[in-house]
Amino acid sequence: MSIRKIVQYPDPILKKKAKTVTKFHARLHKLLDDMAETMYDAPGVGLAAPQVGILKRVLVIDIGEGLIEMVNPEIVEKSGEQLSPPEGCLSIPNLLGEVRRAQKIKVVGQDRYGNPIEMEAEGYLARAFQHEIDHLNGILFIDVAERTFRPEEVDQT
Ligand code: NI
Repeated sequence: MSIRKIVQYPDPILKKKAKTVTKFHARLHKLLDDMAETMYDAPGVGLAAPQVGILKRVLVIDIGEGLIEMVNPEIVEKSGEQLSPPEGCLSIPNLLGEVRRAQKIKVVGQDRYGNPIEMEAEGYLARAFQHEIDHLNGILFIDVAERTFRPEEVDQT
């Protein structure tokens, strides 16, 4: 495994739509392993492949409950609404945003071998999924935030 360089805003790759993965081979497995290592090293709670310069529909998430890998993720159900906690992004350091997200989602996708997987997520995990899946569509949290602010302003919100 190796740590990859995280693409920083405003690199135009972050605004591009990632492509569906069709080959579940060793290169994908290496990408997933490297993405997890890069996320933990940062440290962060999620990373999408475009953030390491790869325009493929691949994400990793770990909000402290274990590593989740998903290929070709798609949200198929959404309910409720949440506005906090504020969101940040490894590609946009030193900025947070208030983003309105669904409180509960159902996500379908594939594992690293191409097997179909389905997950339900709520709260912070649902927020992480929505943030990372936005990345796969070239959408950044600053594009959808109702308000952005510097981390040092958090206590005043
Ligand atoms: Ni991000």
